[in-house]
Amino acid sequence: MKTLVTGGTGFVGNKLLSKLTDPGVVTRDASRSRSKLPNNVDQVFEWDAAKGLKDFGPSFDYQAVVNLMGESIADGRWTEEKKKRIRDSRIVGTRHLVDSILTADRLPEVLVSASAVGYYGDPGEDVVTERHAAGEGFLPDVCEQWEAEALRMTDHGVRVVLIRIGIVLGAGGGAMEKMLPLFRWGLGGKLGDGKQWMPWIHVDDLVNLIAWAVNNRNLSGPVNAVAPNPVRNVQFTRALARAVNRPAFLPAPKFGLKLALGEFADSLFFSQRVTPEKALTNGFDFQFADLDAALTEIVAR
Ligand SMILES: NC(=O)c1ccc[n+]([C@@H]2O[C@H](COP(=O)([O-])OP(=O)(O)OC[C@H]3O[C@@H](n4cnc5c(N)ncnc54)[C@H](OP(=O)(O)O)[C@@H]3O)[C@@H](O)[C@H]2O)c1
Repeated sequence: MKTLVTGGTGFVGNKLLSKLTDPGVVTRDASRSRSKLPNNVDQVFEWDAAKGLKDFGPSFDYQAVVNLMGESIADGRWTEEKKKRIRDSRIVGTRHLVDSILTADRLPEVLVSASAVGYYGDPGEDVVTERHAAGEGFLPDVCEQWEAEALRMTDHGVRVVLIRIGIVLGAGGGAMEKMLPLFRWGLGGKLGDGKQWMPWIHVDDLVNLIAWAVNNRNLSGPVNAVAPNPVRNVQFTRALARAVNRPAFLPAPKFGLKLALGEFADSLFFSQRVTPEKALTNGFDFQFADLDAALTEIVAR
């Protein structure tokens, strides 16, 4: 299916684009983005996520839209201004994307829109499937409203899949870009007591899951994008230390992280035992179900 992607210059979007045939991209800066985008990108639409896109009319020729934009939650301290960018880039951005798509002469068949396991907040030891209720607080609120904007497309007969993404692990971006240097220097350690569950997914599995969601006509609604084997933070810490062959005995205390990162630090201590029930029951095949295998592959790159 010919696919239009937002966030295509990002960590996940870029890898997804390489797998698609003649995709289109919606980006905030077309000239800057060109150098970051793979050669197979056919059309680039420039937009301001805060204002929307020009009307598509007859120029829209896409059967699928994948929405991956969003201000990074992990870069920089969470000031009020940063929180507004996190919120608006997702909620207002998705609202404008949907409004723009609705100006097209022919609507796409499917919208696959990113969300996050942040939707569930801090459910502790609960095993969390897609049927679990939303949590409370900033991230759950953002995710709920972000999903609600995407779901507006269902009123127009478009299938909507909401990908609730866990911590994405892959070489050259995301969480590993921040953690690997620390662990390679032997400066890694568990966060607090390390008992919190960490829902992770290898970036290759996430990209395959998104492509699978685009093509699987029976799939709609929320889909947890996490590996089938979530681990506690302490297990993750040990596995990463093993993968880089270094010790990891410096635990990071919550108050220190809170000083450095602000409110974002709280989310590092959320315990989210999320399971990909819908992906598994619908036959999705994870290439990296096991954390050691995922980390070995990433470290080897
Ligand atoms: N990586 C993870 O661990 C993780 C976990 C859970 C959920 N997710 C979600 O998955 C999606 C993709 O993640 P990613 O890691 O690939 O993200 P990323 O590398 O940070 O890229 C996101 C893209 O969004 C656009 N963007 C950034 N700031 C923006 C702003 N203020 N307003 C509008 N657009 C903005 C940029 O594209 P342009 O500059 O080209 O417009 C950017 O390339 C995001 O929605 C993210 O929230 C990721």
